[in-house]
Amino acid sequence: MMSFVTIENISHVYIKQATTLLALEEINLAIQQGEFISFLGPSGCGKSTLLSIISGLLKPTFGSVKLEGERVVKPSKHIGHMFQQDFLLPWKTIEENSWLGHKIMGTLDASIKEEVHQLLAAMGLGDVYKKYPHELSGGMRQRVALVRTIAVKPKLVLLDEAFSALDVVTKLQLENMTQHILEKHQMTSILVTHDFQEAIAMSDRVVLLHHNPGRIRKIFEVPIELRRLDPVDARNHYMFTELSQEIWEALNRDGTATA
Ligand SMILES: Nc1ncnc2c1ncn2[C@@H]1O[C@H](COP(=O)(O)OP(=O)(O)OP(=O)(O)O)[C@@H](O)[C@H]1O
Ligand SMILES: [Mg+2]
Repeated sequence: MMSFVTIENISHVYIKQATTLLALEEINLAIQQGEFISFLGPSGCGKSTLLSIISGLLKPTFGSVKLEGERVVKPSKHIGHMFQQDFLLPWKTIEENSWLGHKIMGTLDASIKEEVHQLLAAMGLGDVYKKYPHELSGGMRQRVALVRTIAVKPKLVLLDEAFSALDVVTKLQLENMTQHILEKHQMTSILVTHDFQEAIAMSDRVVLLHHNPGRIRKIFEVPIELRRLDPVDARNHYMFTELSQEIWEALNRDGTATA
């Protein structure tokens, strides 16, 4: 069976003046439609680089990425990429930032505006449509960036540390809301994180990366019992504790523990 996303033999070298850095080496991964995958690994292991390659923003030195059998060579509306920084436009309101993708594609109309309002409301942003980014907290801005990413209904959603830099309560709420929205729209997703508990709570599979060079170290399947639960509830399940220990040990063995 053809996979939804195929990452084939990706290696990436950064060249800066006289120095070269092998950021990624021989990454292979097949992702099924509707799957939620996390890339887990320490700072500098190439997570953001890999996401940029998957989204078509960065051309890999070797290898290829395919979405539904088609080679990804440039960014497109089929792949939504939420960056590590939120990149909201300060001179545009929250609603304008949220429907920016449609505006750029020329598909913005009254029904899209209504849909975007509903997404904002579902994310607890129902009363800030007309505000500007600087009037919002960091967690709220991240939610806006998330709404903007999924508003164009991409087939594949890439989330680069979408929930980092948030207090624990906000983080857990946002994980829950995000999972509901992604499931409702049946989107395939890849989350980059260095929080292994977040990775377990959200994902179907957790891909653990090495650094120097960035390689896949191990792939963990999250048990079905945990996948069925909301991220907040999953954390209270005994299987969550077991998998946490397993991943924690792998991180430590590797000398790459960060959390
Ligand atoms: N444009 C660039 N030019 C040269 N080197 C780069 C560039 N971007 C990233 N790197 C290097 O490539 C490696 C991987 O970087 P990357 O940003 O992909 O890591 P990351 O896993 O996302 O890290 P973090 O968790 O800190 O966000 C790092 O050593 C980084 O310094
Ligand atoms: Mg990064």
